[in-house]
Amino acid sequence: MSVKQFFVVLSTALFLSTVQGAAIEKRATCSNGKTVSSAACCAWFPILQDIQENLFNGGQCGAEAHESLRLVFHDAIAISPALEAQGKFGGGGADGSIMVFDTIETNFHPNIGLDEIVRLQKPFVQKHGVTPGDFIAFAGAVGLSNCPGAPQMNFFLGRPAPTKAAPDGLVTEPFHSVDQILARMADAGEFDELETVWLLSAHSVAAANDVDPTRNGLPFDSTPGIFDTQFFVKTQLAGTTFPGSGGNQGEVMSPLAGEMRLQSDFLIARDTRTACEWQSFVNNQSKLTSDFQFIFAALSTLGHDMTTMTDCSDVIPISKPLRGDSARFPAGKSMKDVEPACAETPFPTLATAPGPATSVARVPPPPGA
Ligand code: HEM
Ligand SMILES: *[C@@H]1O[C@H](CO)[C@@H](O)[C@H](O)[C@H]1NC(C)=O
Repeated sequence: MSVKQFFVVLSTALFLSTVQGAAIEKRATCSNGKTVSSAACCAWFPILQDIQENLFNGGQCGAEAHESLRLVFHDAIAISPALEAQGKFGGGGADGSIMVFDTIETNFHPNIGLDEIVRLQKPFVQKHGVTPGDFIAFAGAVGLSNCPGAPQMNFFLGRPAPTKAAPDGLVTEPFHSVDQILARMADAGEFDELETVWLLSAHSVAAANDVDPTRNGLPFDSTPGIFDTQFFVKTQLAGTTFPGSGGNQGEVMSPLAGEMRLQSDFLIARDTRTACEWQSFVNNQSKLTSDFQFIFAALSTLGHDMTTMTDCSDVIPISKPLRGDSARFPAGKSMKDVEPACAETPFPTLATAPGPATSVARVPPPPGA
């Protein structure tokens, strides 16, 4: 079996976290001395350098990195085999249509705020002459690699330019029911309820600017600059008025000062179909990284045949590892504040962060936003 065949079988069956590096035959050496699987990947090293310096402020896991990851999701998830089956255009998935047809797509309600990162990314696409779909996937992977604890991100090359804007109504909203969200994810990418939970790990490095525009930059956990499992702890804490008494569609009150909690995350953390998988991430960094590595590769290639794409994962930097599993209850919180929702397994025992409860710092939006 050739390496290529081996890879095809692996990627269609289960994308093992060991694929990266292990199964890919290195075939080209770039002018910077780095070895990659194909010479076509070499062109992405200068792009890497450019965006690390000029988009991600010297390789930060800040708002630009978070928004670039969110952009991957909102571009990719806009694909619907169900619409196609009705003879309608179902969108092109991870095709960059959200950037090319930004005047249409960033006006869709769930895409609120994404005009900003599209505006920041566009000049790099023009300057480097790559397709918008490939660039969005690349920027999402590089941005997350700037967050300590992130997996080794995969990057596949070969998305043609989009021909049409995606239709409205395909991107999930924080006020959707769990049924609605699971149905949409199943249609878009045959993502099941477990894979939907894996995808939501992205909210470990996230903040909200538009759920409540009067309170922008509110992170979803206490560590928005680190890809850790703290998000899965905090979403399980009680102390909420439900539904959001603040009147913000899709928000439930967070028990932690300075943080935002989405209704959808709150409900998925408590639904019988998803609660055990949600809890399984608490303090399990290696599960977090391996599941997200796999699912990001699937998300960022939606609508494309991965076996025809070029694996350029070698270009993506390796993020700083986190030492051990360090999930904590926030200061002042303990097991008694947990609303356990997994009938099979007790919530893991965690230490409580020391000190008085403090408000988490905002994530400053990009300048000029
Ligand atoms: C499945 C249902 C999902 C819903 C309902 C949802 C909803 C939201 C909402 C409302 C925000 C806040 C936006 C704002 O006000 O600025 C947000 C932020 C974010 N989402 Fe999601 N999301 C979902 C899944 C995902 C997935 C699958 C990813 C990526 C793989 C993702 C990545 C992000 C990131 C990184 C942010 C932070 C953006 C920033 O800090 O500027 N989300 N999401
Ligand atoms: C972490 O998750 C993996 C994969 O599900 C599991 O085998 C392992 O036992 C988990 N570790 C802990 C400490 O729960």
